Amino acid sequence: MKITVVGTGYVGLVTGACFAEVGHDVMCVDNDESKIAMLRRMEMPIYEIGLQELVERNVAGKRLHFTTSIEEGTDFAEVIFIAVGTPPGYRGEANLSYVEQVGRTVAEHMTSYRLLVEKSTVPVNTGMQLKRTITKYIEGGLDFDVASNPEFLREGTAIEDAFQPDRIVIGVESERAAKLLREVYDPIVKKSGCEFLVMNIASAELTKHASNSFLAMKISYINAVSRVCELAGADVEQVAHGMGLDSRIGQKFLNAGVGYGGSCFPKDVDAFIHLSDQLGYDFQLLKEVQRINQNQREHMLQKIKHELWVMQDKTIAILGLAFKPGTDDLRQAPSLYFVPQLIEARAKLKLWDPIASDNFKKLYPDLTYCDDILDCAKDADMVLILTEWPEVRDLDLKKLKKAMAVPVVMDGRNVFDPAEMHRLGFIYHSMGRP
Ligand code: UDX
Repeated sequence: MKITVVGTGYVGLVTGACFAEVGHDVMCVDNDESKIAMLRRMEMPIYEIGLQELVERNVAGKRLHFTTSIEEGTDFAEVIFIAVGTPPGYRGEANLSYVEQVGRTVAEHMTSYRLLVEKSTVPVNTGMQLKRTITKYIEGGLDFDVASNPEFLREGTAIEDAFQPDRIVIGVESERAAKLLREVYDPIVKKSGCEFLVMNIASAELTKHASNSFLAMKISYINAVSRVCELAGADVEQVAHGMGLDSRIGQKFLNAGVGYGGSCFPKDVDAFIHLSDQLGYDFQLLKEVQRINQNQREHMLQKIKHELWVMQDKTIAILGLAFKPGTDDLRQAPSLYFVPQLIEARAKLKLWDPIASDNFKKLYPDLTYCDDILDCAKDADMVLILTEWPEVRDLDLKKLKKAMAVPVVMDGRNVFDPAEMHRLGFIYHSMGRP
């Protein structure tokens, strides 16, 4: 089946490559010429485990093509996925100008039926707006459909998530659109055995908002519990484990720490608050989710200040710059909060991250970057853990202690066991643990 995917960002590129892998013929479109040139040279504009091989294999198999021409994409396939950026505007609402632009261009160039599927995270009712846009620009009488197919991929496991989804959600208005999307997803549904849910467009759009905000809420909930644990002398890891064994709660997304970041949760929670507000509902619960998330970072900073007392000229080794392991993505990463704060306090910073350092260097070219964790920790007055990379978990703690000037570890991701750290002679602080 022929499929066009507009937008070769995270969602678009992974989706396009995965559709090609299950046997479809896919055209990926992006108006950014440098991105398409990179892809034609087999260079990936984003880092994602397994993506390079997937793209290479499917380009070689002639199932994956790239173009900057949306007209070519429109001619290529009946089904067109829209996976362009929806960056937050200044009040938190999603900026839909790219989505509108794609809808308009497709409408102006299509010569027969097309199905436009929104895959970007968009506010409820975008489907309706897209429909109005297309109706405005289309040559008289041509038939078309719009649909919603929200994306649930996680960075770092995106390809695995695409082939083994928990569910596929589509929002449609016609049987024709449902049938086409069933055909698109048939190989994945057959292989993974996942549920294929068909609903109306507004429900599909809201499923995405409600899911991501719920997960963010789960993280803020455990972070709030971690604060009470600190005051009560309890251990949040044990509390979370005890909670998670209740199958109605589940163990996942109950890790306390310096809070959630990334390209989705902060933006999606913001967008959900904004759209609820527009519809006439004040979503106070989600505002509190945001406040708790921000407060975790401030709380950690207070702990650092309290431990070091005078910050000036103290050497702090920061382990982890990416918003989570497995990605070089810095969007809303805790490191972007801590680094400027610590620079302002005149601490000396040494930074380590296995893959996100190059991106960080573009923002802070003058800081000291280390390839090796022990080099980074050498002569440090404090190690600050912001991302739970496996390399951090596997650290030889005796060597770490020996390398440091003063063995203070501030653990923003609860990587180590407090009892073990104290036994080894560290001054160890984590989140929500005695
Ligand atoms: C998320 C959603 O999981 C995915 O379904 C959606 O499509 C996009 O947004 P992603 O942002 O890639 O995916 O990362 P995820 O693994 O969900 O983590 C998000 C953030 O939450 C990270 O900063 C992570 O460190 C933090 N987190 C996660 C916690 O602080 N505690 C947890 O228990 C889990």
